[in-house]
Amino acid sequence: MSANSASVGRSKQELETPALCLDLQLYRRNVRRMVDFIIGQCGIAWRPHMKGQKAPELAHELLAAGAIGVTCATVYEAEDLAEAGVNDILVANQVAGRHKLARLARLARRAWILTATDSLAHLELLSAAAQTEGVVLPVLVELDVGMNRCGVPPGEPAVELARAACRTPGIRFAGLMAWEGHTLLFEGEEKRQAIHDAIRSLVNSAELCRAAGLPVERVSCSGSGTFLHSGELEGVTEIQAGGGAFCDLNYRKWGLENDYAITVVTRIVSRPTPTRIIVDGGFKTMSSQHGPPRPIGLGPLKSLVLSAEHGILELEQPDTERQVGDLVEFIPGYTDSTVCLHDELCVLEDGRVSAIWGIPGRSGRR
Ligand SMILES: Cc1ncc(COP(=O)(O)O)c(C=O)c1O
Repeated sequence: MSANSASVGRSKQELETPALCLDLQLYRRNVRRMVDFIIGQCGIAWRPHMKGQKAPELAHELLAAGAIGVTCATVYEAEDLAEAGVNDILVANQVAGRHKLARLARLARRAWILTATDSLAHLELLSAAAQTEGVVLPVLVELDVGMNRCGVPPGEPAVELARAACRTPGIRFAGLMAWEGHTLLFEGEEKRQAIHDAIRSLVNSAELCRAAGLPVERVSCSGSGTFLHSGELEGVTEIQAGGGAFCDLNYRKWGLENDYAITVVTRIVSRPTPTRIIVDGGFKTMSSQHGPPRPIGLGPLKSLVLSAEHGILELEQPDTERQVGDLVEFIPGYTDSTVCLHDELCVLEDGRVSAIWGIPGRSGRR
């Protein structure tokens, strides 16, 4: 039984804390904005990334709103979503290791699973797993368009690997993908240019493949901090932006003007001084990776320290209003690194808990 399973129907005040909360109305508004831009304005298909969102109920929300399928970072996430009836999934990663490859290939029996590769050696591993399972795996060749993570260089190396994918048994070459994550660090016109340069190298590589007679069905890319600019270009067929449906301090910094749909609700456990507030959520509840969380409705902070199970807030000015037992709600710095610390999501509608959803896909346990 989960900590908050008895909270459905109750107000936020009555939550067991710390609790990860989703304002479903704000989430739906964010989703609508992304659908309107990506599908409506740009005419591109939407394949939102679930690495941060994870909950299958959210995947179904996204599909109902118009997404063609979803993107995952791991086989585990994909398995849990497939189990919940999501049947069009891109595992946008290089899956390696005998057991994981077998799980990926087995999954392709239950759902339409697309995955990524960036080397001949990896292609052979995918091919062996697919043939053992008796399936054909559709594969995207991943390009490194400047992030210096995975991927082959754009241009001829991409064409070469695409050609190899076309003749590899158990594999069906389905197109190209890239993630222009390095451009998140830029601002203004410089950012727009960096995104355009990255996406053009992807789209041009797709054209080179087509010119070589290779069937490029999909050109997949982009995230919540970049799609506003990549969507301006021709040639992209799918956008992977996902975390922006939650939004957080990082996504705002990266230029997305969505609402904060995810918060972490904590409770004050101690008021040692007029300027110090101690809450029952620390680094096991909220991550500071990519920036610290921000409490809502408090005055300026001198400091915020997260120890394991304590949040220690030192205010600039004394506060006599907040008492032990009161709630303090935080906007995550980065939802990706915060949601994965929790087992459940408390869904709020009009300030009341309307559901508790599990957050699977974190461990691969099944
Ligand atoms: C392959 C890939 N696509 C897209 C994204 C962007 O995802 P989001 O929109 O959730 O930030 C990422 C982020 O890490 C990624 O790794």
